[in-house]
Amino acid sequence: VELDAAIAEWDSRMGLHQVGPAEAERVRCVLRSFAREWSAEGAQERAACFAPVLDRLCEVFPLPERRARAPRVVVPGCGLARMLADLVLRGFDAQGNEFSFAMLLGSSWALNGCATADEQTIHPWCSSGSNHARSGDMARGVTVPDLHVGRAVEDAWRAVQGHEGDGEPPLRPGTMSMAAGDFLDVYSEASGEDGQWDAVATVFFIDTAHDVVAYLERIFALLTPGGAWVNFGPLLYHYSENRVAGVAGNPQGDDSLSVELSLEQVLKVAELIGFVRQGNVEMRPCPYTANPKGMARMLYTCAFFTMIKPANAHAPPP
Ligand SMILES: C[S@@+](CC[C@H](N)C(=O)[O-])C[C@H]1O[C@@H](n2cnc3c(N)ncnc32)[C@H](O)[C@@H]1O
Repeated sequence: VELDAAIAEWDSRMGLHQVGPAEAERVRCVLRSFAREWSAEGAQERAACFAPVLDRLCEVFPLPERRARAPRVVVPGCGLARMLADLVLRGFDAQGNEFSFAMLLGSSWALNGCATADEQTIHPWCSSGSNHARSGDMARGVTVPDLHVGRAVEDAWRAVQGHEGDGEPPLRPGTMSMAAGDFLDVYSEASGEDGQWDAVATVFFIDTAHDVVAYLERIFALLTPGGAWVNFGPLLYHYSENRVAGVAGNPQGDDSLSVELSLEQVLKVAELIGFVRQGNVEMRPCPYTANPKGMARMLYTCAFFTMIKPANAHAPPP
């Protein structure tokens, strides 16, 4: 206690502020997400979860359609926004949505703040000494971002403008935007966004809900008739632990709502809301912010499926 007081006094004299454990964990989480979304080391992880969703959207909206008009896609809970960059380069107009200030700061830097690719080196694995095969693995650096989005979009436009000859011109890149805030608030009925989106892409997102049914209803409402919802992720309900901790009297917990449906129930509810599933539900293994060189890797079994809002679904009132 004496030492704590001495350190606190010294910190305050030096103008330093203590970083609490929750803030420190938030920073660790963002650094691991940078490795997943914006480093060459994360390519394998992205290939397992982002690539199938991008490919599925390209199947639903084939090249001639994307050439004629960029389909509008919203990506709720977009983390550090890598999916947005990949969508834009495939001819979609992409809007990300995120409510974490730490993630928003990170994506703002990756999309707008850095001058070149691989500008910074981060050390995402240095805070844990477990499961490193080689001595250098723990402190190893990872350079970010592996893609400079501004330059990639400029290059794509240059290719479009410089195209000559008879063949098809290269695909025009889409536009990108970000809507900060809680998904249910930002895209509420009052937002005027209902029926405005050709697709919604959720990756490791639907289980962040207090009430997954409310998410599904909102996704359905946002889509234009004929629009598609593509989902990839597990069902690790984020508020589940809070609820249990609250019930057990843990002061860290709360009694917030947590509706925990099985995958079977999620699919049934989607159908009751009005979605029609296109194709099978695939179960695919995928890690989330795993250390690719680590000696332990947690694999989720993710549900990958596409739901269509039927073309004859009711349009929202004008
Ligand atoms: C598990 S992460 C997945 C991030 C990213 N989609 C990916 O696959 O790497 C879930 C993200 O959703 C965000 N999130 C959770 N609840 C949200 C909400 N209600 N509205 C907006 N974003 C939310 C979190 O801050 C987090 O960045």
